[in-house]
Amino acid sequence: MRLHVAEHPLIAHKLTVLRDQKTPSATFRLLADELVTLLAYEGTRDVVVEDIEIQTPVAPTTGKRIAGPRPIVIPILRAGLGMLEGMTRMLPTAEVGFLGMKRDEETLAVETYANRLPDDLSGRQCFILDPMLATGHTMVAAIDYLLERGARDVTCLCLLAAPEGLKTVEASVGDRANVQIVTAAIDERLNDKSYIVPGLGDAGDRLYGIVDH
Ligand code: URA
Repeated sequence: MRLHVAEHPLIAHKLTVLRDQKTPSATFRLLADELVTLLAYEGTRDVVVEDIEIQTPVAPTTGKRIAGPRPIVIPILRAGLGMLEGMTRMLPTAEVGFLGMKRDEETLAVETYANRLPDDLSGRQCFILDPMLATGHTMVAAIDYLLERGARDVTCLCLLAAPEGLKTVEASVGDRANVQIVTAAIDERLNDKSYIVPGLGDAGDRLYGIVDH
């Protein structure tokens, strides 16, 4: 597993505003969107391109375009949706799939309650969007889901990651695939409720307001 922490003054600034509990949802959504575009820039460094011949107003030249098969972007519902627009703005030719995952609080097993993905992902570059890599269990389940469908190249974009979650993903993935995590910061730890500390709270609630269950 490769890990990239996107260190940049603009990222640190925007992340600090996101963390602040006084930041309202509308600003939070805007900043999350902006941060994703910066993470996407790092996360797409290895996207496969091919040569294309074009004509400028001055001369013919060889340029680059994103090669097929099209990369696929997969937000994990619900909080990953807050990262989708920023990502597709940077990668407009990508296809978008969806994974809805939740954790059974008793068994701790991760259950997939929604999925909209091609059955065959072989040869596809996959980009998972999930703002918070906390315990890592959801990310491991999402990665496994993609690997079972033939994917071998997976980049996970997260606003924040906890050391515990990174260890869990690394131990699970091993050398089964080329997996990369791109995050804006690695925080201190998880608390006893599996929230990232200092973190930013519940990303879904901060993005969309609280939904009673
Ligand atoms: N999910 C969140 O939204 N926040 C955390 O801190 C951990 C998991």
